[in-house]
Amino acid sequence: MNRPVQNILITDVGPRDGLQNQAVPVGTDDKLRLIRMMAAAGVQSVEATSFVSPKAVPQMADADELLPRAQAALPGVRLSALVPNLRGLERARAAGAQEVAVVLSATETMNRKNINMGLQQAMEVSEQTLQAALAMGLRTRAYVAVAFACPFEGETPPAAVRQAAVRMLRAGAQEIVIADTIGSASPMQVGDLFDVLQADIPVHRMAAHFHDTRGMGVANAWAALQAGIRRFDASTGGIGGCPFAPGAAGNLATEDLVLMAERCGFSTGLDLMRLLEAVDFAQTLLERPLGGRAIGWLRGERDKGRLGSMFRGSSTQGQAA
Ligand code: COA
Ligand code: ZN
Repeated sequence: MNRPVQNILITDVGPRDGLQNQAVPVGTDDKLRLIRMMAAAGVQSVEATSFVSPKAVPQMADADELLPRAQAALPGVRLSALVPNLRGLERARAAGAQEVAVVLSATETMNRKNINMGLQQAMEVSEQTLQAALAMGLRTRAYVAVAFACPFEGETPPAAVRQAAVRMLRAGAQEIVIADTIGSASPMQVGDLFDVLQADIPVHRMAAHFHDTRGMGVANAWAALQAGIRRFDASTGGIGGCPFAPGAAGNLATEDLVLMAERCGFSTGLDLMRLLEAVDFAQTLLERPLGGRAIGWLRGERDKGRLGSMFRGSSTQGQAA
């Protein structure tokens, strides 16, 4: 059956969501090299770092140096930075940020553990930060974290996610990232939640952010695709996990998402051969095996020389539909 190819936009959050949790310290030069390799594979959007307390997340302490260097090296790539408060936004602006993401959790306890604020305060601070970012002319994203389950409060009621997401939309967030922070979602829940949210939020303003804790990352991404979502977060090699959310495993691997999406008639603009080079590099940096569920098969195809002909060039560069 001939279907029109639709583009999806992948934001690689590996340099932030991935590296923030790693025991091995990664230097700024190596982070830059990893981001460069992602860009060389066709990644058009990268969450490069976060401007958070260096005491809370030591691995992100070099944000003020990393972001301007990455922007100078990769002018064509959308580089985003997570900011938890106005202080973080000021630092991001001083570093020349063009896009920032605020992080609001849908539950009281997760906000306290993550950013030391209750839910109401976190909503207010996120709103103020978004409004200030817009006044600075920056692009804005807003995470709604623990959107399916919270490690402290259990299943998250969809109404709580809806309320948080609507507040962020009204405050001016250009993209609302629905995040399965601990990787507990099932495809059915993903479909149901996006159905609920679409009553208030245009589908093109939402992105899906999955972790692969229970091996359902790709299935969840498929459910989000079916719900009309065309923007996804993922991380090269599946590096990831939140230091403040017990039980969270790595993000949905970018290479798994690309493989699934391309096999299902979507275009990602990414070159899997080059992406595997970035996975290999991340592996040497972190001194442990990395890669998503399909990594064995992908490497096998690469070794047989078949990967390039299968996927390289099958994609068209472009923005998400
Ligand atoms: N960047 C750097 N330093 C910051 C900061 C920021 N965005 N915001 C606050 N600080 C500093 C303050 O200046 C203060 O420094 P001091 O101890 O040297 O005086 C210290 O952090 C505490 O400030 P306070 O306002 O009391 O913050 P807090 O201790 O309640 O922490 C956060 C709040 C948000 C800064 C902190 O919880 C944090 O950075 N969390 C990170 C969350 C994260 O990255 N999670 C993973 C991604 S979802
Ligand atoms: Zn995450």
